[in-house]
Amino acid sequence: MTGADSVTAIVQEAMSRTADPRLREIMARLVDHLHAFAREVKLTEPEWEAGVDFLRRIGQASGATKNEAMLLSDLLGLSTLVVLLNNEQGRGETDAALLGPFWRDHSPPCKPGESIARDPGGGEPLEVRGRVSDLAGKPVAGALVDVWQASPVGLYENQDEAQPNHNLRGRFETDADGRFHFRSVRPKGYPIPMDGPCGELVRAQGRHPYRPAHLHFMLAKEGYKTLVTQVFADDDETIGSDVVFGVTPGLSGRFERAGDGHWKLEYTFVMQPGTRRIPRAPIP
Ligand SMILES: [Fe+2]
Repeated sequence: MTGADSVTAIVQEAMSRTADPRLREIMARLVDHLHAFAREVKLTEPEWEAGVDFLRRIGQASGATKNEAMLLSDLLGLSTLVVLLNNEQGRGETDAALLGPFWRDHSPPCKPGESIARDPGGGEPLEVRGRVSDLAGKPVAGALVDVWQASPVGLYENQDEAQPNHNLRGRFETDADGRFHFRSVRPKGYPIPMDGPCGELVRAQGRHPYRPAHLHFMLAKEGYKTLVTQVFADDDETIGSDVVFGVTPGLSGRFERAGDGHWKLEYTFVMQPGTRRIPRAPIP
C-alpha cells in the first residue's frame, strides 16, 4: 500500500522490469532525485500544479521554428552541463559549447578569405583567422569549418526576414597548415526568446536575458571528434553572465581593433581524436 514513506520504493518496484537497462537506470535515478526534491522543499499542491502547468505551456510554446524545451534546458544550465560531461577537458583540447538552435546544415561552401556577410547592410568589419591543431600541436589540414553567427543587430538570418538567405554562414576548409580565414561583421550579443514561459521564469529570477556576442564553429574531420563550440567577444559586458552559462575561460576570444572600425579575431582550435559526427540541425 502506498504511503508518503513507501511511495518511492513502490514506484521503483513498478519500474524495475523495464527491459532496456539504460532506461531502467535513468528512470530509477530520476524518480529517486525527483521524490527527494519534493520532500526537501516540501512541495505544496499549488506549487506542483504550477510546475505541471509550466511544462504543459513549454510544450505548447514549441513548434517548427521554436524549441522552448531546449531553451528551458539551456536556462537551467543542463545543456551546458551535458556538453561539458561529454567532452573531455584538460588535455589541451578546445572546450565544446552548445550547438544552439540556429545552426543550419548545408551552409554555403566558401573560398579562403571570402566574406560571409551577404548583406551589404553595414556592421563593423571583422576578420577572423583560425588555426586548427591536434593535441600535439600539429596542424589539422582539410578540416571542415562551419561558421555561423548573429548579425550586428543580434539576429540570425533564420529569425530575421530582413537578412538574405544564409547570411553570416559559411563553410571553409583548413589549408596544409591547418589555417582558415574569412571576413565578416562583428556579431552582437542577443537575448534569448522572452515571449514564452521561459521568459516568465527569467523575469521572475531577476536575470538579464542576454548571451554575450559570439561566433559559432563546428569543426569536423574523419578521425577527430567533431568540435562544436563558440568563441565569445572578450569585450562584451555580459561575458561573465551568459544567460545559458556557455562561456568557459578558454572560449573568450580577443577582439582586437585594427583601425578604421575594423576588428580582428585570431583563435586556435585544438581537436581531439575521436569520431566525426555531424549533429541533426535543430531548424532545417
Ligand atoms: Fe548563438
